[in-house]
Amino acid sequence: MSQTLAADDPAAPGTRERVFSGIQPSGASHLGNYLGAQANYVALQDRYDAIYAIVDLHALTTVHDGETLRRLSHEMVLDLLAVGLDPQRCSLIRQSDVPEHAELAWIFNTCVPVAWAERNPTYKEARDEGKENSVGLLDYPVLQAADIVLYKASRVPVGKDQAAHLEFSREVVRAFNRRYAPVFPEPQPVYTEAPVVLGIDGVRKMSKSAGNTIPIFAEPDEIRRLVMSMVTDPLRIKRTDPGRPEVCNVCQLHRFFGADYLQIQDGERTARTGCVETKQLLAERIIEFFRPMRERRAELAADGAVVEETLAAGADAVRPIVDATMAEVRDAVGIGPRRVA
Ligand code: TYM
Repeated sequence: MSQTLAADDPAAPGTRERVFSGIQPSGASHLGNYLGAQANYVALQDRYDAIYAIVDLHALTTVHDGETLRRLSHEMVLDLLAVGLDPQRCSLIRQSDVPEHAELAWIFNTCVPVAWAERNPTYKEARDEGKENSVGLLDYPVLQAADIVLYKASRVPVGKDQAAHLEFSREVVRAFNRRYAPVFPEPQPVYTEAPVVLGIDGVRKMSKSAGNTIPIFAEPDEIRRLVMSMVTDPLRIKRTDPGRPEVCNVCQLHRFFGADYLQIQDGERTARTGCVETKQLLAERIIEFFRPMRERRAELAADGAVVEETLAAGADAVRPIVDATMAEVRDAVGIGPRRVA
């Protein structure tokens, strides 16, 4: 069961459930990240006990230069603060600052049959395409499961591209709970209204690894350039041909940047408007939408201390939760000194 939450849904009184999500510091935040996940990170921080992680251990599967990874982690903290995460209202952590993520992942590894791990679509894709392919990549979803339930989080704001990973997390939890004790809740995804956002090629998911993104904090001219290069309806060859907004990625994105998207789609369908003007309008709207966040980000970036202070406060805030969960886990599986009952 998943859920789409609007920003004004009330939290159940007296039951502040825990929300957790992670984002890889493998490149600049893009429209898919924002529309699919970050918008909900922000919306949920007031109604839940929210923890968000820069998952640098996950990014080790693709970023293989130490200085680059450090810089990208730093940049991602700035991105998250700029989109509206407030360290007073949520905890922002760096995964590697909490080594128990890796410890719990190892314990889960011993509960997960290899065949389950081999179903991981990212791993299969890399294997089939003959790409660099590590044990870490195979194991990536196990670490993701550990991330979430280390905090006993029950809700996970993610984009719809993560549905399979969340289902896998629930299977991992069930395998652990069955073998040892009912320690963990089964986490459920929380989706925004957005579908899996397609990249500028109009075919593949927008993703840093595919190099088809529109970074939300890019300079306005760069956003214009990228939007103008977006593939629209491939069957609309001439300006006078009617378009199919349902297959046009530009028309679909308009949905999130103005209440008049139905008119815009109608303009395309009837050839009243051309792809060029629809793209120009989209580019300007994206730039305007992110302008206050871009300004805020520039202010934050000028403050040399804010990132590390935020992460240090986040690590302190989650420490008691981590200690409590891991004490239960170590007791259940029989590692570490026996605790006095
Ligand atoms: P990552 O870093 O690829 O993406 C971060 C978030 O952005 C969402 N997203 C998208 N949503 C819609 N359309 C897109 N094109 C798109 N691209 C990215 C993702 O769904 C995600 O919510 N495996 C995760 C990171 C992770 C994690 C976790 C997430 C590690 N541990 C624990 C949740 C809970 C990932 O690679 O996200």
